[in-house]
Amino acid sequence: MKTYSTAASLRAALNVGKRAGKTVAFVPTMGNLHEGHLRLVRRARQYADIVVVSIFVNPLQFGANEDLSNYPRTLAADKEKLFAEGAQFLFLPQVDEIYPEGMDSHTKVSVPELSEGHCGANRPGHFTGVTTVVAKLFNIVQPDTAVFGEKDFQQLSVIRKMVRDLCMPIDVVGVATARAADGLALSSRNGYLSPEQRQIAPILHRVLQECREAIACGYDSYCKLEQHARTSLIQAGLEADYFNICDGRTLRPVTADTEEVVILAAAKLGTTRLIDNVTLNVNSSTDWGMLAAN
Ligand code: PAF
Repeated sequence: MKTYSTAASLRAALNVGKRAGKTVAFVPTMGNLHEGHLRLVRRARQYADIVVVSIFVNPLQFGANEDLSNYPRTLAADKEKLFAEGAQFLFLPQVDEIYPEGMDSHTKVSVPELSEGHCGANRPGHFTGVTTVVAKLFNIVQPDTAVFGEKDFQQLSVIRKMVRDLCMPIDVVGVATARAADGLALSSRNGYLSPEQRQIAPILHRVLQECREAIACGYDSYCKLEQHARTSLIQAGLEADYFNICDGRTLRPVTADTEEVVILAAAKLGTTRLIDNVTLNVNSSTDWGMLAAN
């Protein structure tokens, strides 16, 4: 696996392969790699001849009170894992390479509406930070395919929209969330949990699943379901940030046109913010008349 820290050197190396007709799949990450990331790399290998992974803890997507300085950095272990998975190129830029004139004056890419609710409501500027860096990384790597985890459902939706709106010739692939045996979605931030918190954390996924089952069984008082879920989380010791039942395409409330429902949730356990989601396809036999009342 070859490592590059400048855009120019990575591009020059990739161009050799591209000129030989090889396809490129790209997995952008912030490092501290776990099984969830490795699944993305494995998926990327199925799509292309060359797999490029980036590790860049992007300061632009962290708020002033967030965990940028403490964000886990585990480069040596990450490199070993990527090598074992057969990634051929690692892009490891410094902040100066990505934001040479600083972040304030840097061109921003933002996706309105989809970025605004859910995580965007409590993390102002977060998604602009994500889309700006992802657009820049896409321009550097110029991949045929880019692979992202579905755990960050809103992030994936926002990136897909950016790619569509800006006519980026990239196929965006989402990969199902990797989970521990007890259902907890794998995340770099799980490492912040104390042993006691780690026991409590899977409740987030359990409450999401209960909610999905209730909807699948025809229960359609969505506000009541959301409220019940928030109460369950609070009772378990989590501070519910949001628990929203939405249309999987618009991330807005479910309507008669909804084909896929996504239930998006974020909650704090101590100082650790957990996010997760579940989806369900809504078939045409659903009694949508009832929804109007909710
Ligand atoms: O999901 C992440 O790890 C980051 O938001 C991403 C997509 C690598 C952009 O910094």
